[in-house]
Order: sequence, then structure tokens, then C-alpha cells
Amino acid sequence: MERTFREQLFLLALCVSVLTGDCRYIENNEISKDDIYSVFNLDLKREMSEIPEELIYRRSLRCLDMISVEGQFTFTADRPQPNCAAFFMAEPNEVLSLEYDSVDVDCRGGDFITVFDGWVMKGEKFPSSQDHPLPSFERYVSYCDSGSVRKTVRSNQNVAMIFFRIHNEGSSFTITVRKHNNPFPCNVISQSPEGSFTMVIPQQHRNCSFSIVYPVEIEVSEFSLGHYNNIAKRPLPGCAETGDFVQLLGGNTIDPSKLSPVTDLCISFTGPTQMKIGCENAAVRMVSSGRFINRVSFSYRPLTPQELQSLKLNSIDDFCFNNSP
Ligand SMILES: *[C@@H]1O[C@H](CO)[C@@H](O)[C@H](O)[C@H]1NC(C)=O
Repeated sequence: MERTFREQLFLLALCVSVLTGDCRYIENNEISKDDIYSVFNLDLKREMSEIPEELIYRRSLRCLDMISVEGQFTFTADRPQPNCAAFFMAEPNEVLSLEYDSVDVDCRGGDFITVFDGWVMKGEKFPSSQDHPLPSFERYVSYCDSGSVRKTVRSNQNVAMIFFRIHNEGSSFTITVRKHNNPFPCNVISQSPEGSFTMVIPQQHRNCSFSIVYPVEIEVSEFSLGHYNNIAKRPLPGCAETGDFVQLLGGNTIDPSKLSPVTDLCISFTGPTQMKIGCENAAVRMVSSGRFINRVSFSYRPLTPQELQSLKLNSIDDFCFNNSP
């Protein structure tokens, strides 16, 4: 069990580090034998918007791939490929659309191409089933089942993926990936182990998680939950009872509902709060009753090897593997 989480997050961490350009290769994994990744040119991403059709970024898609730029991607099978997956990622305040341009696969022969609204790794989903607006089965959109009906699939957060299986050499498909602005991002996977973010939930009864798939220190600089306006009217007990609170979570899974709370922040918040979370995934989660406009601002940076080592000595690993039910 431990090993599985470690492996899948290791892969994910490597995938993400490809985006930051400090990793040229990716470990082999059961999904694929294509183990070499090229480094993406991040500058391309910024220049992508509103580029005429003939200048759109194009490249081939690999059986295991990670893509953070807009463009047109073509997979061509040079041999039977039973288990492929491509992970797509945008900025936190963006969502993705995936559009099939041309598809030449043998649906009847057992080929498939399935878009997933989020990321899934060995049954663990981001966002978790509870946090996503659609029921689980609707998050999978299979090309072979829906065919021409759903030519474009739009994600609900900054990550999406496709799974595909192709039996015949020479079969291929092409998809175009675009990014769209999302004014109120809820459920984000950070592209980098360093950054800052402000999450706002505007009077919606929902819970949002910002995940950083690295061991990091998170500093919450500010948050405002509706209670502040209500303090005089009714005293509020523990965080969970208030219905609106912020959690810092850690664990070795990408499913936020299975992460363990490191701390809860609500009415008693005084000044900036810093927490080191030495797990493979760390998340800021905001639980929102829908009665208020809730807001949290935070920054994060990767832990140094020394910091990780000292957390290990305090048996933080046990904590990381102690996934909530
Ligand atoms: C949000 O999380 C809280 C506490 O974990 C839970 O009680 C509530 O049902 C969740 N709300 C939604 C809309 O999922």
C-alpha cells in the first residue's frame, strides 16, 4: 500500500517537475515504456493565446505524457498500446477544454479514448468525488461511447487527463487543448512547489482544495470567513461546528478527502500561520457553508532536505500514510 502511493506520487512529482524544467527524464511506470520526456518550453505557453490557426503549437503525444501548454497533439500508435495516459494542466485560474480533431481508432475492436475531468491515479481522484460538481461516472467521457455527440470536453478545474488504448499499428487521433479563464477556481493542483494563491468561495456551499504535490511549508497570511461579522451575535465553538473553516492537510494520496488535517483555522486565527508538511501532497482546503464570501491567502515553498529529514525524525511519515477513510 505504502509503496503504491509513493510510486504514483513519485511519478506525479516527476511529471510536475518536468514543467519547471529541472527534470529531463521520467521513470518508467506500468503505464508505458516511453520513458523519456522532453523539456517543455514554458515560454510557448505565454505566447499561445490568440495565435492564428496556422501558428498553433503542435507536437506528437506520447503514451505517457504531461502537457501544460495549449496546442494540438497527435498520437500515432507505432505498435499496440494497451495502457496510455496523458495528464493536462493549466494555471490555477484556468480550466481546460479538450477537443477531438480527428480520430482513427477501432472502437469496435476494443480501442478507447476517455477524457477524465480531473486526474485519477490507481483509483484515487482529484478532485475527490465529494468535491466535484459531477457524479463520478459523468466525469469520464468516452469517445467511443459518445462519438460525435461530445466532440469537446471542458474540465471543471485546472487539471484533466485522457486514457487511451489502441491495438492497431498506425491508428491515431488528434486533440486540441485550450485554456479558459476561471474567475473562481475551486480545486487546483499547483504547477510548481513554490507560489502564492488567494482562494475565494463566493457564497457557495462547497469545499475547495488547493493541492501542492510536494513536501512544502505553507504560510497562511490572511483569511476571512463570514463569522467575523457574526461574532457578537453568537459565540462559535470548534472550527468544524462553524461550517466555514480552512484546513491544512497532508498525506501521500492525490485524493483530498483522504488527506489528514494538520491544522484547522477558523475564528481564533491570529497573525500568519506557518506549517511544514513533509508529505508527498499538501493541501489548503476551505470548507464553505454558502452563507458567506470566504477567502484565504497563502504562500508555499518546497522543504529543504534538512527540513524533511528533521520531520522524518519526528515520524511524520506515519502521519502521511495515515489516510483518512
Ligand atoms: C464540506 O466539508 C464538510 C466538512 O468536511 C462536510 O461536512 C460537508 O458536507 C462538505 N460540503 C460539501 C458541499 O461537500
